[in-house]
Amino acid sequence: MSRVVLVTASADLTERVRYATGGGFLALPHGPMPSDPAAFFQLLGGAPAPEVVLLDPGQAHDQALALAAGFDRQCPGITVILVSDLGADIVLPAMRAGIRDILPPTSDPSEIRVVLDRALMTAQARVPGAAAAASGAEHVLLPTGRVVSVASPKGGVGKTTVSTNVAVGLAQAAPRSTVLVDLDVQFGDVASALNLNPEYTLPDMVHGPASRDTMALKTFLSLHETGLYVVSGPETPAAADAVTGEDVTRLLQMLATEFRFVVLDTAPGMSEHTLAALDLTTDLLLVTSMDVPGVRGLRKELDTLTELGMFTDSRHIILNFTDPSGGLTVADVEATIGTSIDLALPRSPLVVQSVNQGIPLLQSQGKDPMTRGLRQLVERLAPNLSSPPAEGATRRDRARHRRERSGAR
Ligand SMILES: Nc1ncnc2c1ncn2[C@@H]1O[C@H](COP(=O)(O)OP(=O)(O)OP(=O)(O)O)[C@@H](O)[C@H]1O
Ligand SMILES: [Mg+2]
Repeated sequence: MSRVVLVTASADLTERVRYATGGGFLALPHGPMPSDPAAFFQLLGGAPAPEVVLLDPGQAHDQALALAAGFDRQCPGITVILVSDLGADIVLPAMRAGIRDILPPTSDPSEIRVVLDRALMTAQARVPGAAAAASGAEHVLLPTGRVVSVASPKGGVGKTTVSTNVAVGLAQAAPRSTVLVDLDVQFGDVASALNLNPEYTLPDMVHGPASRDTMALKTFLSLHETGLYVVSGPETPAAADAVTGEDVTRLLQMLATEFRFVVLDTAPGMSEHTLAALDLTTDLLLVTSMDVPGVRGLRKELDTLTELGMFTDSRHIILNFTDPSGGLTVADVEATIGTSIDLALPRSPLVVQSVNQGIPLLQSQGKDPMTRGLRQLVERLAPNLSSPPAEGATRRDRARHRRERSGAR
Protein backbone atom coordinates (compact mmCIF):
# COMPACT_ATOMS: atom_id res chain seq x y z
CA MET A 1 0.00 0.00 0.00
CA SER A 2 1.13 3.54 -0.72
CA ARG A 3 1.32 5.22 2.64
CA VAL A 4 2.15 8.62 1.13
CA VAL A 5 0.09 10.53 -1.44
CA LEU A 6 1.51 13.62 -3.13
CA VAL A 7 -0.74 16.37 -4.52
CA THR A 8 1.31 18.71 -6.72
CA ALA A 9 1.59 20.25 -10.18
CA SER A 10 5.38 20.32 -9.95
CA ALA A 11 7.30 17.62 -11.85
CA ASP A 12 10.43 18.70 -10.02
CA LEU A 13 8.92 18.16 -6.56
CA THR A 14 7.50 14.81 -7.72
CA GLU A 15 11.03 13.73 -8.67
CA ARG A 16 12.48 14.77 -5.28
CA VAL A 17 9.68 12.93 -3.41
CA ARG A 18 10.35 9.87 -5.59
CA TYR A 19 13.99 10.04 -4.58
CA ALA A 20 13.13 10.56 -0.90
CA THR A 21 10.70 7.64 -0.74
CA GLY A 22 12.44 5.27 -3.11
CA GLY A 23 9.30 5.42 -5.26
CA GLY A 24 6.98 4.35 -2.40
CA PHE A 25 4.35 7.03 -2.95
CA LEU A 26 1.35 7.79 -5.13
CA ALA A 27 1.02 11.08 -7.05
CA LEU A 28 -2.52 12.31 -7.67
CA PRO A 29 -3.19 13.10 -11.35
CA HIS A 30 -2.40 16.77 -11.92
CA GLY A 31 -5.50 19.00 -11.84
CA PRO A 32 -7.32 21.38 -9.50
CA MET A 33 -6.85 20.73 -5.77
CA PRO A 34 -9.67 18.34 -4.59
CA SER A 35 -12.30 20.39 -2.78
CA ASP A 36 -12.87 17.96 0.10
CA PRO A 37 -11.67 14.53 1.34
CA ALA A 38 -14.40 12.70 -0.59
CA ALA A 39 -13.24 14.29 -3.87
CA PHE A 40 -9.66 13.35 -2.92
CA PHE A 41 -10.67 9.70 -2.43
CA GLN A 42 -12.47 9.71 -5.78
CA LEU A 43 -9.20 10.77 -7.47
CA LEU A 44 -7.41 7.95 -5.63
CA GLY A 45 -9.63 5.43 -7.42
CA GLY A 46 -9.50 2.16 -5.57
CA ALA A 47 -6.23 2.82 -3.74
CA PRO A 48 -6.45 2.42 0.05
CA ALA A 49 -6.45 5.49 2.28
CA PRO A 50 -2.92 6.88 2.77
CA GLU A 51 -1.35 7.68 6.12
CA VAL A 52 0.31 10.90 4.95
CA VAL A 53 -0.82 13.47 2.38
CA LEU A 54 1.76 15.89 1.05
CA LEU A 55 -0.13 18.95 -0.25
CA ASP A 56 1.61 21.36 -2.61
CA PRO A 57 -1.06 23.95 -3.40
CA GLY A 58 0.99 26.35 -5.54
CA GLN A 59 -0.96 29.59 -5.11
CA ALA A 60 -4.16 27.84 -3.92
CA HIS A 61 -3.38 28.01 -0.21
CA ASP A 62 -6.99 28.55 0.85
CA GLN A 63 -8.15 25.38 -0.92
CA ALA A 64 -5.30 23.41 0.64
CA LEU A 65 -6.19 24.67 4.12
CA ALA A 66 -9.87 23.79 3.57
CA LEU A 67 -8.92 20.30 2.38
CA ALA A 68 -6.57 19.80 5.34
CA ALA A 69 -9.30 20.91 7.75
CA GLY A 70 -11.62 18.36 6.11
CA PHE A 71 -9.06 15.58 6.72
CA ASP A 72 -8.63 16.75 10.30
CA ARG A 73 -12.40 16.53 10.90
CA GLN A 74 -13.28 13.44 8.90
CA CYS A 75 -10.10 11.32 8.75
CA PRO A 76 -7.99 12.13 11.81
CA GLY A 77 -5.83 9.10 10.95
CA ILE A 78 -4.36 10.95 7.94
CA THR A 79 -1.44 13.30 8.62
CA VAL A 80 -1.18 16.32 6.30
CA ILE A 81 2.06 18.10 5.35
CA LEU A 82 1.85 21.43 3.53
CA VAL A 83 4.41 22.48 0.95
CA SER A 84 4.67 26.27 1.24
CA ASP A 85 7.13 29.14 1.09
CA LEU A 86 4.94 31.55 3.07
CA GLY A 87 7.03 30.95 6.19
CA ALA A 88 5.68 32.40 9.46
CA ASP A 89 2.55 33.79 7.75
CA ILE A 90 1.13 30.34 7.11
CA VAL A 91 2.01 28.71 10.45
CA LEU A 92 -1.07 29.75 12.42
CA PRO A 93 -3.67 29.05 9.69
CA ALA A 94 -1.93 25.71 9.00
CA MET A 95 -2.03 24.77 12.68
CA ARG A 96 -5.75 25.62 12.84
CA ALA A 97 -6.37 23.36 9.83
CA GLY A 98 -4.65 20.47 11.61
CA ILE A 99 -1.57 20.46 9.34
CA ARG A 100 1.28 18.61 10.98
CA ASP A 101 4.34 20.08 9.24
CA ILE A 102 5.36 22.65 6.63
CA LEU A 103 7.95 21.86 4.01
CA PRO A 104 9.60 24.60 1.90
CA PRO A 105 9.09 23.91 -1.85
CA THR A 106 12.85 23.89 -2.42
CA SER A 107 13.53 21.12 0.17
CA ASP A 108 15.99 18.49 -0.97
CA PRO A 109 15.20 14.74 -0.80
CA SER A 110 16.92 14.26 2.57
CA GLU A 111 14.82 17.03 4.17
CA ILE A 112 11.69 15.57 2.59
CA ARG A 113 12.64 12.13 3.95
CA VAL A 114 12.99 13.46 7.53
CA VAL A 115 9.60 15.20 7.46
CA LEU A 116 7.88 12.16 5.92
CA ASP A 117 9.39 9.77 8.47
CA ARG A 118 8.18 12.01 11.30
CA ALA A 119 4.68 12.20 9.75
CA LEU A 120 4.48 8.42 9.24
CA MET A 121 5.40 7.83 12.87
CA THR A 122 2.68 10.28 13.96
CA ALA A 123 0.12 8.61 11.69
CA GLN A 124 0.89 5.18 13.15
CA ALA A 125 0.60 6.45 16.70
CA ARG A 126 -2.80 8.01 15.91
CA VAL A 127 -4.59 5.03 14.42
CA PRO A 128 -4.86 1.85 16.47
CA GLY A 129 -3.81 -1.07 14.33
CA ALA A 130 -2.16 1.09 11.64
CA ALA A 131 1.27 -0.18 12.55
CA ALA A 132 0.07 -3.75 12.15
CA ALA A 133 -1.53 -2.92 8.79
CA ALA A 134 1.63 -1.16 7.58
CA SER A 135 3.77 -4.15 8.48
CA GLY A 136 1.46 -6.43 6.51
CA ALA A 137 -0.10 -8.09 9.58
CA GLU A 138 -3.78 -8.89 9.12
CA HIS A 139 -6.05 -6.37 10.81
CA VAL A 140 -9.77 -7.06 10.48
CA LEU A 141 -12.40 -4.80 12.03
CA LEU A 142 -15.53 -6.63 13.11
CA PRO A 143 -18.89 -4.89 13.06
CA THR A 144 -19.80 -4.01 16.64
CA GLY A 145 -22.43 -1.31 16.25
CA ARG A 146 -26.13 -1.92 16.67
CA VAL A 147 -28.31 -1.87 13.56
CA VAL A 148 -31.71 -0.34 14.35
CA SER A 149 -34.21 -0.83 11.50
CA VAL A 150 -37.55 0.94 11.24
CA ALA A 151 -39.96 -1.00 9.02
CA SER A 152 -43.63 -1.44 8.17
CA PRO A 153 -45.66 -3.30 5.59
CA LYS A 154 -47.70 -0.19 4.65
CA GLY A 155 -46.62 3.27 3.53
CA GLY A 156 -47.25 6.55 5.32
CA VAL A 157 -47.41 5.10 8.84
CA GLY A 158 -44.55 7.14 10.37
CA LYS A 159 -41.30 5.22 9.63
CA THR A 160 -39.38 8.30 8.53
CA THR A 161 -40.76 10.30 11.45
CA VAL A 162 -39.64 7.59 13.89
CA SER A 163 -36.24 6.88 12.29
CA THR A 164 -35.15 10.52 11.97
CA ASN A 165 -36.17 11.29 15.54
CA VAL A 166 -34.59 8.17 17.02
CA ALA A 167 -31.35 8.87 15.13
CA VAL A 168 -31.28 12.51 16.27
CA GLY A 169 -32.02 11.43 19.86
CA LEU A 170 -29.15 8.91 19.86
CA ALA A 171 -26.76 11.39 18.24
CA GLN A 172 -27.61 14.05 20.82
CA ALA A 173 -27.02 11.63 23.68
CA ALA A 174 -23.67 10.48 22.27
CA PRO A 175 -22.42 12.83 19.53
CA ARG A 176 -20.94 11.28 16.38
CA SER A 177 -22.00 7.83 17.55
CA THR A 178 -24.84 7.43 15.09
CA VAL A 179 -25.43 7.22 11.35
CA LEU A 180 -28.86 7.27 9.73
CA VAL A 181 -29.21 5.51 6.36
CA ASP A 182 -32.11 6.19 3.99
CA LEU A 183 -32.87 2.73 2.61
CA ASP A 184 -36.10 3.92 0.99
CA VAL A 185 -33.90 3.95 -2.08
CA GLN A 186 -36.51 5.20 -4.56
CA PHE A 187 -38.56 7.75 -2.67
CA GLY A 188 -36.56 8.37 0.51
CA ASP A 189 -37.13 11.70 2.20
CA VAL A 190 -34.68 11.60 5.12
CA ALA A 191 -32.61 14.49 3.71
CA SER A 192 -35.70 16.67 3.48
CA ALA A 193 -36.88 15.68 7.00
CA LEU A 194 -33.48 16.84 8.32
CA ASN A 195 -33.22 19.88 6.03
CA LEU A 196 -30.00 18.56 4.51
CA ASN A 197 -28.69 19.22 1.04
CA PRO A 198 -26.29 16.30 0.64
CA GLU A 199 -23.37 16.44 -1.73
CA TYR A 200 -23.14 12.63 -1.91
CA THR A 201 -25.93 10.06 -1.71
CA LEU A 202 -26.35 6.30 -1.33
CA PRO A 203 -25.15 5.27 -4.86
CA ASP A 204 -21.89 7.25 -4.36
CA MET A 205 -21.24 5.21 -1.22
CA VAL A 206 -21.86 1.73 -2.55
CA HIS A 207 -19.62 2.13 -5.61
CA GLY A 208 -16.12 3.52 -6.05
CA PRO A 209 -13.64 4.29 -3.29
CA ALA A 210 -16.22 4.67 -0.49
CA SER A 211 -17.32 1.06 -0.97
CA ARG A 212 -13.82 -0.29 -0.34
CA ASP A 213 -12.43 1.80 2.48
CA THR A 214 -14.20 2.81 5.69
CA MET A 215 -12.09 5.94 6.07
CA ALA A 216 -13.07 7.05 2.55
CA LEU A 217 -16.70 6.15 3.24
CA LYS A 218 -16.83 8.48 6.24
CA THR A 219 -15.89 11.43 4.05
CA PHE A 220 -18.97 10.84 1.88
CA LEU A 221 -21.43 11.09 4.80
CA SER A 222 -23.37 14.29 5.53
CA LEU A 223 -23.11 15.71 9.02
CA HIS A 224 -26.30 17.07 10.59
CA GLU A 225 -26.08 19.91 13.11
CA THR A 226 -26.93 17.52 15.96
CA GLY A 227 -23.79 15.43 15.31
CA LEU A 228 -25.74 12.77 13.38
CA TYR A 229 -24.12 11.33 10.24
CA VAL A 230 -26.46 10.68 7.31
CA VAL A 231 -26.52 8.57 4.15
CA SER A 232 -29.27 10.20 2.06
CA GLY A 233 -31.26 8.45 -0.65
CA PRO A 234 -30.50 9.14 -4.33
CA GLU A 235 -32.00 12.21 -5.99
CA THR A 236 -33.96 10.27 -8.60
CA PRO A 237 -35.78 6.93 -8.32
CA ALA A 238 -33.87 5.71 -11.42
CA ALA A 239 -30.52 6.08 -9.61
CA ALA A 240 -31.76 3.51 -7.09
CA ASP A 241 -31.48 0.75 -9.74
CA ALA A 242 -27.72 0.84 -9.27
CA VAL A 243 -28.03 -0.23 -5.60
CA THR A 244 -28.37 -3.98 -4.92
CA GLY A 245 -29.11 -5.92 -1.75
CA GLU A 246 -25.43 -6.98 -1.57
CA ASP A 247 -24.40 -3.31 -1.80
CA VAL A 248 -26.61 -2.59 1.21
CA THR A 249 -25.15 -5.50 3.18
CA ARG A 250 -21.56 -4.35 2.55
CA LEU A 251 -22.37 -0.72 3.38
CA LEU A 252 -24.09 -1.61 6.65
CA GLN A 253 -21.26 -3.92 7.70
CA MET A 254 -18.75 -1.12 7.12
CA LEU A 255 -20.86 1.44 8.99
CA ALA A 256 -21.35 -0.94 11.91
CA THR A 257 -17.57 -1.12 12.40
CA GLU A 258 -17.44 2.67 12.75
CA PHE A 259 -20.64 3.67 14.55
CA ARG A 260 -22.34 2.52 17.73
CA PHE A 261 -25.76 2.94 16.14
CA VAL A 262 -26.70 2.48 12.50
CA VAL A 263 -30.34 3.57 12.17
CA LEU A 264 -32.20 2.55 9.00
CA ASP A 265 -35.27 4.08 7.46
CA THR A 266 -36.86 1.66 4.99
CA ALA A 267 -39.44 1.63 2.20
CA PRO A 268 -42.83 0.00 2.92
CA GLY A 269 -42.89 -3.78 2.47
CA MET A 270 -40.00 -6.15 1.98
CA SER A 271 -37.77 -4.96 -0.85
CA GLU A 272 -34.41 -6.66 -1.41
CA HIS A 273 -32.82 -3.68 0.40
CA THR A 274 -35.06 -4.10 3.43
CA LEU A 275 -34.42 -7.87 3.52
CA ALA A 276 -30.66 -7.24 3.39
CA ALA A 277 -31.06 -4.78 6.26
CA LEU A 278 -33.25 -7.15 8.30
CA ASP A 279 -30.55 -9.79 8.04
CA LEU A 280 -28.13 -7.52 9.94
CA THR A 281 -30.69 -5.90 12.25
CA THR A 282 -30.13 -6.09 15.99
CA ASP A 283 -33.08 -3.88 17.01
CA LEU A 284 -36.28 -3.90 14.97
CA LEU A 285 -38.87 -1.12 15.24
CA LEU A 286 -42.12 -2.15 13.53
CA VAL A 287 -44.52 0.73 12.96
CA THR A 288 -48.24 0.64 12.19
CA SER A 289 -50.97 3.21 11.95
CA MET A 290 -54.09 2.75 14.05
CA ASP A 291 -56.45 1.54 11.34
CA VAL A 292 -57.68 -1.85 10.22
CA PRO A 293 -55.57 -2.18 6.99
CA GLY A 294 -52.41 -1.07 8.82
CA VAL A 295 -52.93 -3.46 11.72
CA ARG A 296 -53.79 -6.41 9.43
CA GLY A 297 -50.67 -5.67 7.38
CA LEU A 298 -48.55 -5.75 10.53
CA ARG A 299 -50.06 -9.13 11.54
CA LYS A 300 -48.93 -10.55 8.17
CA GLU A 301 -45.48 -9.01 8.48
CA LEU A 302 -45.04 -10.52 11.95
CA ASP A 303 -46.00 -13.95 10.57
CA THR A 304 -43.62 -13.59 7.62
CA LEU A 305 -40.70 -12.49 9.80
CA THR A 306 -41.30 -15.47 12.08
CA GLU A 307 -41.35 -17.84 9.09
CA LEU A 308 -38.13 -16.36 7.73
CA GLY A 309 -36.51 -16.60 11.19
CA MET A 310 -35.73 -12.89 11.00
CA PHE A 311 -36.82 -11.89 14.47
CA THR A 312 -34.36 -10.24 16.76
CA ASP A 313 -34.51 -10.40 20.53
CA SER A 314 -34.88 -6.64 20.60
CA ARG A 315 -38.19 -5.95 18.85
CA HIS A 316 -40.44 -2.95 19.49
CA ILE A 317 -43.95 -2.55 18.11
CA ILE A 318 -45.00 1.07 17.69
CA LEU A 319 -48.58 2.13 17.18
CA ASN A 320 -48.63 5.57 15.51
CA PHE A 321 -51.52 8.00 14.99
CA THR A 322 -53.33 6.72 18.08
CA ASP A 323 -56.65 8.50 18.20
CA PRO A 324 -59.55 7.50 20.46
CA SER A 325 -62.07 8.85 17.95
CA GLY A 326 -61.10 6.26 15.27
CA GLY A 327 -63.17 3.41 16.77
CA LEU A 328 -60.18 1.11 17.51
CA THR A 329 -58.57 0.69 20.94
CA VAL A 330 -55.03 -0.40 21.77
CA ALA A 331 -56.55 -3.65 23.15
CA ASP A 332 -58.25 -4.29 19.75
CA VAL A 333 -54.92 -3.85 17.96
CA GLU A 334 -53.10 -6.14 20.41
CA ALA A 335 -55.78 -8.82 19.97
CA THR A 336 -55.41 -8.67 16.16
CA ILE A 337 -51.64 -8.85 16.05
CA GLY A 338 -51.43 -11.35 18.90
CA THR A 339 -48.79 -9.47 20.85
CA SER A 340 -48.51 -6.32 22.94
CA ILE A 341 -47.79 -2.79 21.75
CA ASP A 342 -44.55 -1.38 23.14
CA LEU A 343 -45.19 2.28 22.44
CA ALA A 344 -48.23 4.29 21.38
CA LEU A 345 -47.60 7.62 19.66
CA PRO A 346 -50.49 10.09 19.39
CA ARG A 347 -51.65 11.87 16.24
CA SER A 348 -50.10 15.32 16.59
CA PRO A 349 -50.13 18.44 14.39
CA LEU A 350 -46.56 19.14 15.57
CA VAL A 351 -45.27 16.26 13.41
CA VAL A 352 -46.33 17.80 10.10
CA GLN A 353 -44.99 21.17 11.24
CA SER A 354 -41.61 19.65 12.13
CA VAL A 355 -41.40 17.72 8.82
CA ASN A 356 -42.20 20.87 6.85
CA GLN A 357 -39.49 22.79 8.69
CA GLY A 358 -36.99 19.94 8.45
CA ILE A 359 -36.41 20.01 12.21
CA PRO A 360 -37.12 16.70 14.00
CA LEU A 361 -39.16 17.02 17.19
CA LEU A 362 -36.29 15.67 19.33
CA GLN A 363 -34.17 18.65 18.32
CA SER A 364 -36.48 20.76 20.47
CA GLN A 365 -37.00 20.50 24.20
CA GLY A 366 -40.77 19.95 23.69
CA LYS A 367 -42.82 18.30 26.44
CA ASP A 368 -45.86 17.42 24.29
CA PRO A 369 -46.99 13.75 24.24
CA MET A 370 -45.51 12.97 20.76
CA THR A 371 -42.05 14.36 21.64
CA ARG A 372 -42.14 12.57 25.01
CA GLY A 373 -43.09 9.31 23.29
CA LEU A 374 -40.18 9.58 20.84
CA ARG A 375 -37.79 10.37 23.70
CA GLN A 376 -39.02 7.25 25.55
CA LEU A 377 -38.20 5.23 22.46
CA VAL A 378 -34.60 6.49 22.46
CA GLU A 379 -34.37 5.57 26.15
CA ARG A 380 -35.71 2.07 25.44
CA LEU A 381 -33.02 1.58 22.81
CA ALA A 382 -30.14 3.03 24.80
CA PRO A 383 -31.03 3.41 28.47
CA ASN A 384 -27.46 4.09 29.56
CA LEU A 385 -26.98 6.87 27.06
CA SER A 386 -29.95 9.10 27.55
CA SER A 387 -30.51 9.17 31.30
CA PRO A 388 -27.73 10.17 33.67
CA PRO A 389 -26.93 7.62 36.42
CA ALA A 390 -29.42 7.79 39.27
CA GLU A 391 -28.61 9.16 42.72
CA GLY A 392 -26.57 6.59 44.57
CA ALA A 393 -24.99 5.18 41.40
CA THR A 394 -21.46 3.91 41.91
CA ARG A 395 -18.39 5.71 40.63
CA ARG A 396 -17.99 2.94 38.04
CA ASP A 397 -21.59 3.56 36.76
CA ARG A 398 -20.82 7.25 36.34
CA ALA A 399 -17.54 6.54 34.56
CA ARG A 400 -19.33 4.11 32.19
CA HIS A 401 -22.04 6.69 31.48
CA ARG A 402 -19.38 9.32 30.66
CA ARG A 403 -17.57 6.85 28.40
CA GLU A 404 -20.79 5.91 26.60
CA ARG A 405 -21.76 9.56 26.07
CA SER A 406 -18.38 10.36 24.63
CA GLY A 407 -18.93 7.60 22.05
CA ALA A 408 -16.03 5.40 23.24
CA ARG A 409 -16.59 1.73 22.51
N1 LIG B 1 -48.04 10.92 14.99
C1 LIG B 1 -48.28 11.64 13.90
N2 LIG B 1 -49.20 12.66 13.93
C2 LIG B 1 -49.46 13.39 12.82
N3 LIG B 1 -48.85 13.23 11.66
C3 LIG B 1 -47.92 12.25 11.56
C4 LIG B 1 -47.60 11.40 12.68
N4 LIG B 1 -46.65 10.53 12.27
C5 LIG B 1 -46.41 10.80 10.98
N5 LIG B 1 -47.17 11.83 10.55
C6 LIG B 1 -47.22 12.42 9.20
O1 LIG B 1 -47.66 11.39 8.31
C7 LIG B 1 -46.97 11.44 7.08
C8 LIG B 1 -46.27 10.10 6.85
O2 LIG B 1 -45.26 9.96 7.85
P1 LIG B 1 -43.85 9.35 7.49
O3 LIG B 1 -43.31 9.99 6.26
O4 LIG B 1 -43.05 9.37 8.71
O5 LIG B 1 -44.31 7.87 7.14
P2 LIG B 1 -43.50 6.73 6.37
O6 LIG B 1 -43.97 5.44 6.95
O7 LIG B 1 -42.08 7.01 6.36
O8 LIG B 1 -44.08 6.90 4.88
P3 LIG B 1 -43.49 6.17 3.57
O9 LIG B 1 -43.87 4.73 3.69
O10 LIG B 1 -44.23 6.85 2.44
O11 LIG B 1 -42.03 6.39 3.56
C9 LIG B 1 -46.02 12.61 7.16
O12 LIG B 1 -46.60 13.72 6.57
C10 LIG B 1 -45.86 12.83 8.65
O13 LIG B 1 -45.61 14.17 8.92
MG1 LIG C 1 -40.69 7.20 4.78
